[in-house]
Amino acid sequence: MLVHAIPADLTYEFAADVRAGLSKRGQKELLSKYLYDDVGSALFEVICHLPEYGLTRADERLLRRHAEEIVERLPVPIAVAELGSGSGKKTRQILEAFCRRQPTRYYPIEISRAALAMCERELSDIDCISILGFEREYLDGLREVAAQRRSGQALLVLFLGSTIGNFDRMAGLKFLNQVRRNLQPGDSMLLGTDLVKPSAQLIAAYDDELGVTAAFNLNVLARINRELDGNFDLRKFEHVAKINHHARSVEMHLRSMCRQTVEIPASDISVDFREGETIWTESSHKYSPEDVVEIARTAGFRCDVQWIDEEWPFAENLLIAE
Ligand code: AVJ
Repeated sequence: MLVHAIPADLTYEFAADVRAGLSKRGQKELLSKYLYDDVGSALFEVICHLPEYGLTRADERLLRRHAEEIVERLPVPIAVAELGSGSGKKTRQILEAFCRRQPTRYYPIEISRAALAMCERELSDIDCISILGFEREYLDGLREVAAQRRSGQALLVLFLGSTIGNFDRMAGLKFLNQVRRNLQPGDSMLLGTDLVKPSAQLIAAYDDELGVTAAFNLNVLARINRELDGNFDLRKFEHVAKINHHARSVEMHLRSMCRQTVEIPASDISVDFREGETIWTESSHKYSPEDVVEIARTAGFRCDVQWIDEEWPFAENLLIAE
């Protein structure tokens, strides 16, 4: 696989985003994309195996059960792009179904180089597949894929695992709209969305008893120490998961357990924390099936089918660009 590596200096961007997020006057914040460096991506893989966190297994079950049907609904020839491929494990079924029909090009777009490499290892044995990975942010990668496509070839964009839940509702809609702008009518998107479920179940899923999610969350501070020369004492922060009823989301925060000051030289800041003050690190929005139809329509897609998992409410939505 040819990996198109990042040309830009991402460390600089990280330093600037950390500076902006931690110098906010109100709620301090770190963008959730920074949770996913190589360590964070590996920890997220572990989260997916936890009994409390049923999301990924639901996603995989739906893709396994309906791979053939999904492929049958889509035109030939077709190329497949995936936003945030992760390990590639859950994409296997659907790629195999495509490749049984005809040789298929697969473009994983992923910001973690380790995850990209893992995805290639996982999927390269599929017959008749050609993989071309992009180490890029989603929309940058998609723009490049769209520029590469051959005329007459349709494009399917996979956006699985309810990654869209990390955006607030407005931003999610805007993102879908930007994806739509890189597509042509008749192209499609398979969108995975975690559905609304009881608070207790969500809290257990985002604050597991083994502490893997806590480590996943704290890793962003460790990453600031590693890459920006920060001096966060990880033992002085604790992981918190809480429900935001108004936003219909679960939020992850890191709570400062005492009054303290942290230096981050590469961001050129010194940050004061009050005891109990939190840094907001991620939101995971939950949808109803009707919400998805509505935002898809607003973004320029028709929702063709929704497959819903009964065991862990989750929907796989097949959207067609209009
Ligand atoms: C990868 C964004 C789908 O929101 O459930 C898991 C990330 N955070 N546990 C999610 C996550 C804490 C996950 N997504």
